Amino acid sequence: MAAPVSRRDFTRLFALGGSAALLADPVWARQNPSTPALAPGGPASGEAFWTSVRQQFVMPSDLAVMNAANLCPSSRAVLDTLTRETRSVDLDPSPANRARLYPEKENTRKALAEFLRVTPDEIIITRNTSESNNLVSNGLDLEAGDEVLVHGDNHPSNLNAWREKAKRFGFAVVTVDQKNPHPGPDYYVDAFGRAITPRTRLIAFTHLTSTVGDLMPARELCRLARDRGILSLLDGAQSLGLLDVNLADIQPDFYSGSAHKWPCGARECGVLFVNKTAQDRLWPSIYSAYPGAVGFSRTFEGFGQRDEATMIAFREALTLQTKVGRAAIEQRARALTTKLMDGLANLPGVKVWTSPDPSRRAAVVSFVPGTLNANALATALYERDKVAITTRGGQDRPGLRVSPHFYNSPAEVDRLVSALATYLKSGLSL
Ligand SMILES: Cc1ncc(COP(=O)(O)O)c(C=O)c1O
Repeated sequence: MAAPVSRRDFTRLFALGGSAALLADPVWARQNPSTPALAPGGPASGEAFWTSVRQQFVMPSDLAVMNAANLCPSSRAVLDTLTRETRSVDLDPSPANRARLYPEKENTRKALAEFLRVTPDEIIITRNTSESNNLVSNGLDLEAGDEVLVHGDNHPSNLNAWREKAKRFGFAVVTVDQKNPHPGPDYYVDAFGRAITPRTRLIAFTHLTSTVGDLMPARELCRLARDRGILSLLDGAQSLGLLDVNLADIQPDFYSGSAHKWPCGARECGVLFVNKTAQDRLWPSIYSAYPGAVGFSRTFEGFGQRDEATMIAFREALTLQTKVGRAAIEQRARALTTKLMDGLANLPGVKVWTSPDPSRRAAVVSFVPGTLNANALATALYERDKVAITTRGGQDRPGLRVSPHFYNSPAEVDRLVSALATYLKSGLSL
């Protein structure tokens, strides 16, 4: 970890040039000597590179956490940035020092725009995907006689949210049910196409489902919506930071995401992309001070006082992703997933919900672990094998969910598969 700013350092900074020294100290120019370098040679150089990626995180090397769909660790650089910027404000909460942070927020907006291949004018910095999705369902003029078309496999923030607001505003929600196993992109394009009526105003779906990791045909569905004069909301909670998302290509009207999932950013920061062509359709849900400085953020993002440290840390997370390489991250997570799927295929009694076709999945895998109790199994895996995954309760495709990311290794996947094999063979009371 970077050494915290000491009282002496702080005094020295002021002695060097007063608050100007702080103001002239942009985040991107500061080096953190304690963060290990990425191995030279990049992803092409193999496991040595990925080991150096793992060293960017503070997780102990013997703990295998494969739960990216829920929460990713922040990298060292993100933690250091968060600590430094938080401390800076508390050391000096003066207007002068805080003023330094406002341009930083705009730098994060620019970084997000570049990352998603859109313009800063279309980026809103929110708290998380839930907030982003709800800013859309709260902000559109929808009324009795209108229909919103949702995918039944959406997260509550993009499913229950619509159903609850339908009660208030009078519009109807029509659901395209999920099918398991993933029936292929054409099935969903056809199913959504058939469900559209002259009353449909918006389709809302998830890029990569959090339930069983079905990859939805985002570009095709957004195009279908556009061709039929309908808005599209693409929930990117499970694609931002995992897939090399290109919104210029997908062209949704709205796209949402969270920093704390696959991007490995700080918690309580997220993004909402609002396509220029849809901005005049969306009312702000919050009116307050401290809006953004450009484009739609000037009227839509007056959310009151914020934690700029978190936003600056989000930018740091995007920087790490770019340094590692976004295509390489996607390939790595997919390769680990394929290894996991191959391992599960050889385990007797395991029923896998996730598609065996790599083009219909990415890095979220759900399965039933034979007759073993999923909760007890997850506990055993964590306590005895130091492998952290999550359970899926309820009746809908229940079991265990594993979501490996670029900080995981093939050896960790092997450890999970071999522990599963042992428990399936000998039970949990070993
Ligand atoms: C598809 C999807 N959408 C939205 C969310 C909500 O994300 P957050 O809790 O970061 O708002 C999740 C969380 O798992 C998700 O998987």
